[in-house]
Amino acid sequence: MRYVTYWKEQIMTRPTTLPDPTPRSARDHERPVRVLVMTGSTREGRFGPVPARWAAEHARLRDDIDVDVADLADLDLPTVMNDHGAHPALASLGGQLHAADAVVIVTPVYNRGYPASLKNAIDWFHDEWAATPIGFVSYGGRTGGIEAVEQLRTVFVELGTMTIRNVLTFPDYPDHFHDDGTPTAPDALAGAAAGFFDQLLWWARALRDAKAGHS
Ligand SMILES: Cc1cc2nc3c(=O)[nH]c(=O)nc-3n(C[C@H](O)[C@H](O)[C@H](O)COP(=O)(O)O)c2cc1C
Repeated sequence: MRYVTYWKEQIMTRPTTLPDPTPRSARDHERPVRVLVMTGSTREGRFGPVPARWAAEHARLRDDIDVDVADLADLDLPTVMNDHGAHPALASLGGQLHAADAVVIVTPVYNRGYPASLKNAIDWFHDEWAATPIGFVSYGGRTGGIEAVEQLRTVFVELGTMTIRNVLTFPDYPDHFHDDGTPTAPDALAGAAAGFFDQLLWWARALRDAKAGHS
C-alpha cells in the first residue's frame, strides 16, 4: 500500500502491523534469497552505479542469492504525492520491493545526510518495506557516507524494517575503484561483502520464515 493511502486510511486508527503469517514448507528456509540492490543517487555524472554494480556482481556470484536491481535515476519517480492514478515507475518499484526478501540501499552522503531521491523513493511505499532486512553500501569523503546510513536507520525504523549492522562503506570513494569500475583491492572487498551478505541473508531468512508462520 502506498504511503498516501496508508496515511489516510489507517495511520490514525491502528498501530503499524507486520504481515500476517501464512503456513509454508520448511524447505523454503533454504531457497535463494531475493535481494534488491537499489542505487539511491540520481545526480548527473554520479558515482553511485559503480559501487552498486560491484555489490550486485558480488551477490550474483553466490548461489544463495537471486539479485534484482533498481536504479532511481532510471525510474524517475514522481515527487508530488497523490493517491489518484498509477505511475508506472511506482508500480515497477513497488513490485520489486514486494518481491524482495532483502534490500541493499546504495547511498552517497550529501551535506551529512542521504539524497532526497532516496527519501522520495522510501516514502512512496509502506507495507512493501515491512519486516524487510536492509543493508547499506555507502560512499563519500572521509566518513564514507556513514552519516547518511545512520540517518537512514532512523527512517527505516518507522517502516518496520531491520537494518543490519555491517555496512559496506567507501571513504574517499575514488580510491576503491579503478576507472573501469573494478575494485582496487578486490580480495579485501570480497571478504567484507561476504560477511555483509551472510548477515543480510540470516535476517532475510529469519524474517521470511517469520512471515511464513514457522520458526
Ligand atoms: C550536494 C552534495 C553534497 C555533498 N556533501 C558531502 C558531505 O557532506 N560529506 C562528504 O563526505 N561528501 C559530500 N559530497 C560528496 C559526495 O559524497 C560525492 O560527490 C559522491 O560521489 C556523491 O554521490 P553520487 O556521485 O552518486 O551523486 C557531497 C556531494 C554533493 C553533490
